[in-house]
Amino acid sequence: MEVWAAAVVALYIFTVAWKLREVWHMGVRCDGANAFAVTALALALVLGGGASLQLTVCPDFYGGALLGCSLALMFGMERREKLLLPSGRAVLVTGCDSGFGRALAVALSQRGLTVFAGVLDENGTGARQLTERGGDKLKVLQLDVTNSSQIEAAHRHIHTWVGDAGLWGLVNNAGVLQFPADSELQPLAASRRSMDVNFLAAVHLCQVFLPMLRKARGRIVNVSSMAGEVPMPGLGVYGASKAALGLFSGVLRLELAAWGVKVALIQPAGFRTNIFGSSESAARLRDELVATVTPEAREDYGEAYISSLPGRLARMSQQSAEDLSPVVDDFCHALLSTRPRPLYTPGQMGWLLPFLHRCCPTAAFDAIAGRLFKHTDCRPAGLQSPQPRT
Ligand SMILES: NC(=O)c1ccc[n+]([C@@H]2O[C@H](COP(=O)([O-])OP(=O)(O)OC[C@H]3O[C@@H](n4cnc5c(N)ncnc54)[C@H](OP(=O)(O)O)[C@@H]3O)[C@@H](O)[C@H]2O)c1
Repeated sequence: MEVWAAAVVALYIFTVAWKLREVWHMGVRCDGANAFAVTALALALVLGGGASLQLTVCPDFYGGALLGCSLALMFGMERREKLLLPSGRAVLVTGCDSGFGRALAVALSQRGLTVFAGVLDENGTGARQLTERGGDKLKVLQLDVTNSSQIEAAHRHIHTWVGDAGLWGLVNNAGVLQFPADSELQPLAASRRSMDVNFLAAVHLCQVFLPMLRKARGRIVNVSSMAGEVPMPGLGVYGASKAALGLFSGVLRLELAAWGVKVALIQPAGFRTNIFGSSESAARLRDELVATVTPEAREDYGEAYISSLPGRLARMSQQSAEDLSPVVDDFCHALLSTRPRPLYTPGQMGWLLPFLHRCCPTAAFDAIAGRLFKHTDCRPAGLQSPQPRT
């Protein structure tokens, strides 16, 4: 094989591998961009594969064909989406004390948007660091999303600031995971907190800020979780609160289309943030659980099992990705692309597990889930004896 022909084979293999990686990261979604990407890749694989097999027969002709396939892949599969100009647009992001919210607030303000960064504690370390890092485009606001008077105060403040231009974006990011524990053991008060912060607060904020969002024909971005689509043991109420938010977002998307307001849902996989809490918060939640669990459940599950539950948080945190940029990129796309997607699934297996959950027979999915979500080797006391209590 001639040298140039070998070079085009190498270029072709590299381009296909690169584009495969891109398609993998886009995830399995039934939107136009994905359908186009998968079709383009499949065509190039068939044509390019055939051309590389024929290369030794007629190197010039088939080499040229292969080069054509690589160039078509490189330029034909580029996202044909434009980003909107950030200047003159204002966005409210909740839960900016840490994690995704903080990273997003900084990223958006660096791009030139005005960011109202809602924090749970305006005197806390997170808020202080945000004020130090953000420039004049970033305005830190006290905003406990479960507190109606703080929501009203934030509304007044933002309304005065944005005036007739309206608010471009509302990102409902604030969330709590609390304690991964069997649903039977979860304290009801903790379940109510999850529903309040993860779901009802987002509903309330949408209602309060929609007049301003409609004025700007802006965007709502809600943050769900993979646990909101895939049943994960230990995350029953957390998952249910996110599932509720996911469904609510779908309904909003349909209702608000006529107003020109677009709605996106971000459904991340595991990322290492403060969501997994600290050893102190885990101990506090464990005490709450011990204080509320029924005597029967305490006996059946056993002290050893209950004490092992906080360890799940540490294990989940260890298994999570450190780099938050895939999530921040998806937020930015949802807020600034001319064609935002209805669903983003950043992170490892972010699309794969929901896909398996939708497509596999239940028995097969349950077998996979049983292995994947085994966060502890400790079993409940009642399952260790040969004859569990009836
Ligand atoms: N990290 C992941 O793997 C992951 C995966 C899927 C979905 N998510 C979702 O992503 C969102 C952001 O989480 P994260 O991972 O960035 O965790 P995080 O660092 O804990 O961020 C959540 C933020 O929300 C704040 N918050 C809690 N209750 C609030 C309230 N009542 N009002 C206002 N703010 C409140 C928290 O403040 P404090 O820190 O002071 O409590 C924290 O700053 C959450 O909705 C979470 O459910 C995360």
